[in-house]
Amino acid sequence: MVNLLLNVVSRILFSTADTVWHTLTLTYIFTWDTTLVLLNTISFPKRKGKLIAPGKLGHGGNWPEWHPPVEGDSRSPCPALNAMANHGILPRDGKNIPFTVLNRKIRETYNFSPTFCLYVPLYMARLLGRSYTYGTLDLNDIAVHNGIEHDASLFRHDTFLSPGGDQGKPCPDLVDGFFDCVHGDKVTVDDLARYSEIRRTDSRRKNGQFTLSTFHKLFASSNCATLIRIMGGSISDLKVWLYEERLPPNYESSTRAPWGLTMGSFQTTVLRIEAAIRAKESMDSTIGDLGGRYGLPKSELGPGGEVQREAQMGETAPLLPGKKPQTNGE
Ligand code: HEM
Repeated sequence: MVNLLLNVVSRILFSTADTVWHTLTLTYIFTWDTTLVLLNTISFPKRKGKLIAPGKLGHGGNWPEWHPPVEGDSRSPCPALNAMANHGILPRDGKNIPFTVLNRKIRETYNFSPTFCLYVPLYMARLLGRSYTYGTLDLNDIAVHNGIEHDASLFRHDTFLSPGGDQGKPCPDLVDGFFDCVHGDKVTVDDLARYSEIRRTDSRRKNGQFTLSTFHKLFASSNCATLIRIMGGSISDLKVWLYEERLPPNYESSTRAPWGLTMGSFQTTVLRIEAAIRAKESMDSTIGDLGGRYGLPKSELGPGGEVQREAQMGETAPLLPGKKPQTNGE
């Protein structure tokens, strides 16, 4: 009986201490982030070619050689981290990566603020029940479903729909679908919002185990925001990054702020994207067919993979340039 009581009391104490400690850590990170937002506002952005100091990896666009992963390597649903492993910035096998190293390398490669670089690996460590300070992860660990990884991603099929649940490889059909949605000569926030809407509706329709909480929607839009703020909108650069998980030639982050891309700053992009995604997610919506060729039978694609037929029209038609609004069934 005494043992049982001691056990209960110690568990309550540990979990309370953990919650208090975590709350203090988050308060510290968010206060620090706000300070960096202010510092970035009053500092001059770094000039092109000056972001990475001489002697550091990537200075002058010199990144270690790219190799695709080989059998047995660990890869994640995140193109940013996979590209780092493919270049040997992270261990090429993607295994046993200390959270603290992940923090430092993301900062050095993509010019994220130290606050983001601490927050995300810390979040991942807690999710996996590991110590941030001493723990390690394999890239594949990041694929834990409904941790950060969620349904209706832009560049990976849902875990439930992927062969073997594999989230570690690029899905060229989804990347094709994304670029089909880009109508200008640069990727824009509107393109990302439009494709997110398409992916959400399509997944909801096809995935019998579909889930997407508000929290995961915000994570999804955060990924979109990082894509455009860190990689920029260049279509050719993004093609290299998304299809091959490789850094574009002479890559240097599009964020030139001396304190890196802060969480406070990219939230403005997150909210713009999330606000532009319309909430309509009916089961019979045809929106999933509108974004591109993925999911279409080969008979409906031309020799170059282009869509041959008129896309079906739904209430989503105003999203597509040049298409008149029309309701289903008309
Ligand atoms: C420790 C750091 C990071 C972790 C743990 C992480 C984790 C993840 C996870 C779990 C996903 C899959 C989300 C989904 O299901 O759609 C993801 C996707 C993504 N991440 Fe990361 N990531 C990290 C760093 C970064 C960085 C530095 C960037 C930008 C340079 C980035 C950009 C993206 C993008 C664009 C996607 C694709 C989203 C999609 O397919 O919809 N991530 N990341």
